[in-house]
Amino acid sequence: MELRVKRAPRIEAEITVPGDKSISHRAAIVAALSNGVCNLRGFLPSDDCMHTVSALRALGIQIEQPEPDILIVHGKKRVLTPPKDEINCGGSGTTMRLLAGLLAGQTFETRLVGNPSLTRRPMDRIIEPLRKMGTDIVAEGPEQTPPLRIRGGSLRGIHYRSPVASAQVKSAILLAGLFAKGKTTVDEPSASRNHTELMFNYFLIRTAKSEDAISVFGDQIPESRDFSIPGDISSAAFWLVAAAAQSGGHLLVRNIGLNDTRTALLGVLVRMGAQVREAVEGVDQLEPRGVVEVTGVPLKGTVIHGKEIPQLIDELPALAVAGALANGTTIIRHAHELRVKESDRIAAISHNLRGMGVQVIELNDGLEIHGPAPLRGARLSSFGDHRIAMAFAVAGLFADGETIIQDVECIRESYPGFEKALDEFISPSRVRTSTPVIGTLMPATPVEE
Ligand code: S3P
Repeated sequence: MELRVKRAPRIEAEITVPGDKSISHRAAIVAALSNGVCNLRGFLPSDDCMHTVSALRALGIQIEQPEPDILIVHGKKRVLTPPKDEINCGGSGTTMRLLAGLLAGQTFETRLVGNPSLTRRPMDRIIEPLRKMGTDIVAEGPEQTPPLRIRGGSLRGIHYRSPVASAQVKSAILLAGLFAKGKTTVDEPSASRNHTELMFNYFLIRTAKSEDAISVFGDQIPESRDFSIPGDISSAAFWLVAAAAQSGGHLLVRNIGLNDTRTALLGVLVRMGAQVREAVEGVDQLEPRGVVEVTGVPLKGTVIHGKEIPQLIDELPALAVAGALANGTTIIRHAHELRVKESDRIAAISHNLRGMGVQVIELNDGLEIHGPAPLRGARLSSFGDHRIAMAFAVAGLFADGETIIQDVECIRESYPGFEKALDEFISPSRVRTSTPVIGTLMPATPVEE
């Protein structure tokens, strides 16, 4: 399937986006371990999250889905049953890595498989700590890649200093820690998204936090609760970047997750010159949610690096497109992790930007992008990667002629309905004009380069 995109008219939109992917995975998993029925609203029914749901069902958890975004999860007090077959995680690294943590606490053997993209992704980062905790876990692929075979058992709590700032690694260890004896602690080189910790706290699991470390105490059963998942800022990122890069463009996103381990994108857009305002409207379920408003200006280039990287890792493809449209050079460094996402995103971004006529230098750990480029419509590949497909759909909104993105089925992994949302985003007749809310919003925090 391909997606055809033309230059956008003036952007004036008020939107919501589907539920947060990271929070959806975690809500389903923690609810499954809980001691009763949990109603989850705003669940993201994307391919990735549905792989987590199918996996939990295969492990004996009853999950009803009366509407695509509502799950009723019947928690079984941490009791899982052996699956009849291997478990397919599709293209979802989060499913495979978080499940590995969960299965580390089970005495039966499970085999986790994935699609070709997931089968290329590194699993040594979870194998090492889970083995230290006492799990029998092997990767069948070359260089510690999937499939994984896991047999858990009696685990011991460890203090693990992770070499990568990865929420998936942290979460796998913390989930295993729930089944371990004593305290399990994870230290990160810099803070990654903290949804697992918040979800644990919301389900009344005792944790402890020090500067860069988070601990969980073993042998706890989550207390069943209902949870409502806010919109995914990583999905909103495509629209936020489009509005920010169009001089005079204006966008309001409502009911969006504003967890401060996820909002670095807003700070970068402010640094690039855009007017960005945000207001947290609720933190009742520990995850902040609210509204973001962006007004576009001619953007200027920036440097994105260091501790900011783990907090906007999924937004870098969209920010690279913003860089191509900005005045001056945009440099992204310390982003090696992009090489091991659903595709090698550094190679994919530079290949596609070049295809649209942008001067770009590929660095080992990032990109140097020379803007502003008059983008040319081109035929581009998604590289089988949802975020590459969507970032270049946004690029197409600023290009001369038509941009064709091939193999866009992968978009369903994180953003079902993206193509329809794109139509609505650029079709003035279908857009509701927003009531100005500027007075009630705070400017997003500018962050130093
Ligand atoms: C995720 C963490 C990030 C992110 C991924 C979702 C999660 O990966 O890229 O899309 O839900 O924990 P890493 O933590 O491996 O960087």
